[in-house]
Amino acid sequence: MKLAEPKLEPNAPVRLTHMSANLETVVVLAAGEGTRMKSTTPKVLHEVAGRTLVGHVLSAVNSLKPKHVRVVVGAGREAVEAHLAQVAPSVTTIFQERRGGTGHATQLALAGKDISGTILILAGDTPMLTGDSLQQLLNLHHAGGFTASVLTAEHPEPTGYGRIVRSDDGSLLRIVEERDADDFEKGIYEVNSGVYAFDAKALSGAIGKLSTDNSQGELYLTDVIEILRNEGGSIAAALIEDFVEILGVNDRVQLAESAALLRDRINEGFMRAGVTIVDPTTTWIDATAEIASDVTIFPGTAILGSSKIATGAIIGPRTTLESCTVLAGAKIVESNCINATIGKDAQVGPYSYLRKDTVLGTGAKAGAFVEMKNAKVGDGSKVPHLSYVGDATIGEGTNIGAATIFVNYDGVEKHHTTVGDHVRIGSDSMLVAPVSIGDGAYTAAGSVITEDVPPGAMGVARGKQRNVLGWVMRKRSGTKSAIAAEASEKRDEKKG
Ligand code: UD1
Ligand code: CA
Repeated sequence: MKLAEPKLEPNAPVRLTHMSANLETVVVLAAGEGTRMKSTTPKVLHEVAGRTLVGHVLSAVNSLKPKHVRVVVGAGREAVEAHLAQVAPSVTTIFQERRGGTGHATQLALAGKDISGTILILAGDTPMLTGDSLQQLLNLHHAGGFTASVLTAEHPEPTGYGRIVRSDDGSLLRIVEERDADDFEKGIYEVNSGVYAFDAKALSGAIGKLSTDNSQGELYLTDVIEILRNEGGSIAAALIEDFVEILGVNDRVQLAESAALLRDRINEGFMRAGVTIVDPTTTWIDATAEIASDVTIFPGTAILGSSKIATGAIIGPRTTLESCTVLAGAKIVESNCINATIGKDAQVGPYSYLRKDTVLGTGAKAGAFVEMKNAKVGDGSKVPHLSYVGDATIGEGTNIGAATIFVNYDGVEKHHTTVGDHVRIGSDSMLVAPVSIGDGAYTAAGSVITEDVPPGAMGVARGKQRNVLGWVMRKRSGTKSAIAAEASEKRDEKKG
């Protein structure tokens, strides 16, 4: 995303160079309660596009390679800290026990620390912000040698945001909150994004001078702008081109809006990189997924988590892949796969359910109505119809007949089944684990296999067939079945 021509003072015009002046500290404000989410989950832990809100912010921040990242936590502290330890173990947290406002949260983040250089401050509830825009704000801040630089946006519906009040020469005078604004100020469309770069020393000096003399009785970080200006500091306001980047999430409606906007952004990125997405409005790809060029995605498909899709794969329609690896040329139709690896040119579906630790080899197949779990299926092996394959290793070139069940659970424990290369399992076989079928062996259809079948043997385990002749004519006389049978017998008699 590009920043629009910045409205700068006092030393405009400023060249936007790509300087990588080092960024000392980033502070993410994430202590708010998120009351409007009406949730037992802290607001910043709600997810869009496969990451939490704060996870998106930290991902953008991470691209700046800052020395220190501090997150101010409060509401739902334990849960937020546990999440941060997982996704961003290098960040430190600061506890804000009582919600005293963004200025108060910043005071806590700076307290007792001798911070110099540049400090970037932003909120934990803006998942659309890109690292690119943050970098541009920093570039502008450094190039102009400003005391403070504020990222702003022209918002078509500015209600609720702090307004950017500029003087006649266009320079930034102050930021006024909605609730403290007069009618003229409420008519301003340029809003505060809540993202700021500060000279850390100047901020440390000014942050103690905030007052709670406002409608919310809080310490507003925004007031620091006017304080710094009055002390002779130079202030920049950089207008971002695409206002959606600054959108915050305060309720579930905005959560869904952000999810849709991120979906569109992610899909556009993949389409520009050579992925065919037949219906981008019904295709949901997490920010964490990787998809190569010349993959085709049909409607109603979700590609989630750490999924990696190689070139030429065809996914969908109506398919969900969660943290799956799909190799080149594989085809997955109307299926649900979790933590599975789908081999090169393998085929899945329609209506397959591949669970954790399923690995399909090259050209392997999990066909219609097939469920697998912890199953290794060798190259070219096929499980084409109506089967359950759990806790199994299947060799190469093997065919598993329709409706075969790998009976892996004895009611207490799970057991493993091994099937060799070029095996033919007859339809409707039960392979009762633990059991092993040797290379090249067959099993007869309908067998319940409880003992190992040696290589090349035919395993038969079923009742011998007995035909009770004339039973229908005697027991069901006069039915359509009996009449049909009698007619058939007469024809046979004539033929002699
Ligand atoms: C804030 C800005 C407003 C800006 C808007 C952009 C202030 C006073 N106002 O308003 O100018 O337009 O963001 O989205 O800064 N937080 C804490 N501790 C607190 C209070 C807030 O950590 O005591 C955190 C929140 O968790 C949140 C962020 O700070 O992540 C912003 O707070 P929020 O209450 O959402 O501020 P806004 O009213 O949206
Ligand atoms: Ca907010």
